[in-house]
Amino acid sequence: MRLPVLVALVTSLTLAGSVHADPKAGEKKAEPCAACHGPAGNSPSGAFPILAGQTFRYLYLQLRDFKEGRRKDPVMSPMAEPLSRQDMLDIAEYYAAQKPKPIAFKADGARVARGSKKADEVLCTMCHLGGFKGQNEIPRVAGQWPEYIVKQLTDFKARTRTNDAGNMTSVAQTITPEDIVDLAHFIAKPAVATLGATVAPPGPSDGPGGSAPRGRHACCAAASRHGGGDPARRANQMRATAFRSTHIRAALR
Ligand code: HEC
Ligand code: HEC
Repeated sequence: MRLPVLVALVTSLTLAGSVHADPKAGEKKAEPCAACHGPAGNSPSGAFPILAGQTFRYLYLQLRDFKEGRRKDPVMSPMAEPLSRQDMLDIAEYYAAQKPKPIAFKADGARVARGSKKADEVLCTMCHLGGFKGQNEIPRVAGQWPEYIVKQLTDFKARTRTNDAGNMTSVAQTITPEDIVDLAHFIAKPAVATLGATVAPPGPSDGPGGSAPRGRHACCAAASRHGGGDPARRANQMRATAFRSTHIRAALR
């Protein structure tokens, strides 16, 4: 066996040993969540985010942030409050394994075109990957309800959502409210999930062992392929690189 393979294997075994998540138990524990997030996490309304197919690490970290008060919402915070770490791991594993259903949303063509241009300019996919499919602690946003996307980007811009270690807060300062609506149309548009050949290949799966190091490399391999002279692009490129090197939230404590 070649050494890198061995190292990867040993690493994944070590990580897998520290986190055990049971999707069957998660399904049961997620029953009360369906009232808002819909069957299997396919929420029926833009007031509630789609959880189906979201990355495991992101789901777990958001639940933990709601529970511990780093992310606040009057409706959602009390729902996370009684969950144990094991509950959050199980629920995250369950939702990550569900298939997201296309939403009933008719995107405006002009907005999609402007949103696509903006996303390229701001290098969103350097972190979120092509097609906004997400990786590890970076959420999948593809096919998400546009109302929810607008609310989150607005919250980041207004600094009322601050549990992101500064990444999205900084990015959001560089976009206007009009850009936000354009981006939401672009990202929510069902066909967006098929885009994505232009950026890095997807990171490895978000199994319970997590694969953050390789996922982050994917993020930064993409970063090094981008570039250009524009200061906003350069700033975001640096952000993506810093995102890897700070190792924020590397461990699922
Ligand atoms: C009464 C409605 C309601 C119920 C029930 C509910 N949620 Fe939520 N949830 C919300 C709302 C609203 C938000 C978005 C909050 C915001 O705007 O930041 C949210 C956000 C989330 C997020 C963050 C998603 C993202 O993309 O960032 C997760 C994860 C989540 N909920 C999981 C759960 C789980 C697990 C349960 C069951 C234990 C649950 N929710 C029950 C209303 C609800
Ligand atoms: C430097 C890396 C990075 C860049 C660049 C970036 N994001 Fe993010 N984004 C993140 C991270 C990390 C999170 C999760 C924050 C957290 O943990 O709360 C996030 C969260 C989000 C969310 C909230 C998703 C949810 O389910 O609540 C949206 C929407 C989003 N990003 C859209 C964008 C858009 C649009 C762009 C480009 C204009 C962009 N992002 C650029 C890293 C990035």
